[in-house]
Amino acid sequence: VAKLPKKTDFPVSQVRRYLEPGPIVLVSSKWQGATNIMTLGWHTVLAFSPSLIGLMIWSGNHSHLMIRESRECVVNVPTTALTDTVVGIGNTTGAEIDKFSHFNLTTQHAHEVEAPLIGECHASFECRLHDDALVERYNFFIFEVVKAHVAASPKHPETLHYTGDGVFMVSGKVISRRSQFRPEMLD
Ligand SMILES: Cc1cc2nc3c(=O)[nH]c(=O)nc-3n(C[C@H](O)[C@H](O)[C@H](O)COP(=O)(O)O)c2cc1C
Repeated sequence: VAKLPKKTDFPVSQVRRYLEPGPIVLVSSKWQGATNIMTLGWHTVLAFSPSLIGLMIWSGNHSHLMIRESRECVVNVPTTALTDTVVGIGNTTGAEIDKFSHFNLTTQHAHEVEAPLIGECHASFECRLHDDALVERYNFFIFEVVKAHVAASPKHPETLHYTGDGVFMVSGKVISRRSQFRPEMLD
């Protein structure tokens, strides 16, 4: 039974700690012959069909320029096996180093975009820029996922979920309530 926890005032600038989505993704890109990768936590699903997702890619990141110009990327989902790599990629810039070779990651050819898939990740989603209307104002890119590659197992990979301040939560227990859902809510 849910209790009524006692709550105190909390800084609005830190609500991210509770609303931060997961899982952390590695966004790979390719522009003018060079590849790059960034770590990203601020993303959201926007529609099923077409499959639209939104990513907040800060303009100070080298990836922002590469993705804005090439109009595509690959969203890769790492597991806890790649924790140190996720942190390393998020604390270095492709303007200075080649992250695929520095972090010893495997490039794999995508089908629909030039940007490479990251072989070590559990899943990779090839994305094409669908709408750049919010890029200038919010650094928010809306992509269509045009091709998806997912490992058959494990069914519930241990993904990383960033809570800010250098701390991650790990996805865990699975809870099913299928029988209580309206049929149209299930797929
Ligand atoms: C856990 C974590 C989450 C991050 N989430 C985001 C994000 O949502 N959006 C963003 O623009 N940068 C995010 N970053 C920062 C970029 O990954 C970082 O600035 C990176 O160095 C950019 O690389 P680049 O200059 O090669 O593009 C995150 C970093 C970490 C470590």
